[in-house]
Amino acid sequence: MFNPYEIRKDFPILDREINGYKLIYFDNAATSQKPRQVIDVMKEFYEKYNANIHRGVHTLSQEASELYENAHKEVANFINADGMEEIVFVKNTTEAINLVAYSWALNKLSEGDEVLTTLLEHHSNIIPWEILSKIRGFKVKYADINADGTLNIESLEQLTTEKTRIICVSHVSNVTGAINDVKRIAKLAHEYDAIIILDGAQSVPHMPIDVKNLDVDFLAFSGHKMLGPTGIGVLYGKRELLEEMEPFLGGGSMIKSVRCQSPNGNCQIEWHDLPWKFEAGTPNICGGIGLMEAVKYLRRIGMENVQRHERELTEYALKRFGEFEKVKFYGPKDASLKCGIIPFNIDGMNPHDVALMLDSFGIMVRSGYHCAEPLHRRLGIKGSARASFYIYNTKEEIDRFIEVLRSIESVA
Ligand code: ALA
Repeated sequence: MFNPYEIRKDFPILDREINGYKLIYFDNAATSQKPRQVIDVMKEFYEKYNANIHRGVHTLSQEASELYENAHKEVANFINADGMEEIVFVKNTTEAINLVAYSWALNKLSEGDEVLTTLLEHHSNIIPWEILSKIRGFKVKYADINADGTLNIESLEQLTTEKTRIICVSHVSNVTGAINDVKRIAKLAHEYDAIIILDGAQSVPHMPIDVKNLDVDFLAFSGHKMLGPTGIGVLYGKRELLEEMEPFLGGGSMIKSVRCQSPNGNCQIEWHDLPWKFEAGTPNICGGIGLMEAVKYLRRIGMENVQRHERELTEYALKRFGEFEKVKFYGPKDASLKCGIIPFNIDGMNPHDVALMLDSFGIMVRSGYHCAEPLHRRLGIKGSARASFYIYNTKEEIDRFIEVLRSIESVA
């Protein structure tokens, strides 16, 4: 039985008081809190197993290597990938998208090609393409959004042409929480022989994900938004695509052999097997092990239960938002179309002031553009405050949040 009150006991930080009030953590889209199990396993790694991986024949190196490889396998199972070869550990979602940009797009795209993304994207799904387009001369196009901030799928369809080589979209908007129809977009991309890169930063932590069922070519996500530590993220890629790609970063651990034949000639280099070809240098070993524990934790709960709980919270919160006069929220009004992210503004108030006032009552929300300035500009707003939920949040917390918001509204 899914019980958020039991789950809360695993999260030491939730016992904190802030400004004399019990902490209400509603900034989960920025990063999630960490359960005791993840904290303990990372502490245990440094106390018992710490060594570099794939470099030593000694016991500690062997043990650390096995744990790190198991972490890849655990993540592969979690998203139904075809084995750990398809799972590259990176720093975060941003690095995962940049990896595809610099390893795939840099080598394959040129003038006349097009990358299609959308106005609702996080900057990490915009800036790499803008940087690379200046080097390679391809065009970046942006599908439009609807008045409620959701993707205008017709616009995306209209902009897809024979020139489209990449469609790069978020699964779930980090601002509105709206869920995009990924299967439809993947089908569209493949009809035009384009690849689809899915930004799963806001979906993988919150719903069951099956990369085969979605039929995406790449999926990027971060460990820290799904109970894991910061500094570890994942790029899933279809094996045949990863195999044909050049590495992103060069250095130790990503090669099988380097032979420099003569003083004047280039070296002959054989890349390492997947996924190590893309993991140059000493990786975030402890972070990977922490992420494995986070994935185990989520699997024990069940991702269907995670999604159901957040949907109930969102439905409840959206209903309560309807009670306000001066509070406006953005995004779908139907909780079944979104994840637990609600952006809002209070008439006449700066979103940062709203967030600061909430903070004075122990309630944490994010404010500003949320790294998605084009979306806010398209909606004609100068930022928003954003409440976002996770497994340990409760309806009582939403009641308290609404009560505090009402008092802020009354002075607005
Ligand atoms: N991408 C994260 C957010 O939306 C940091 O807050």
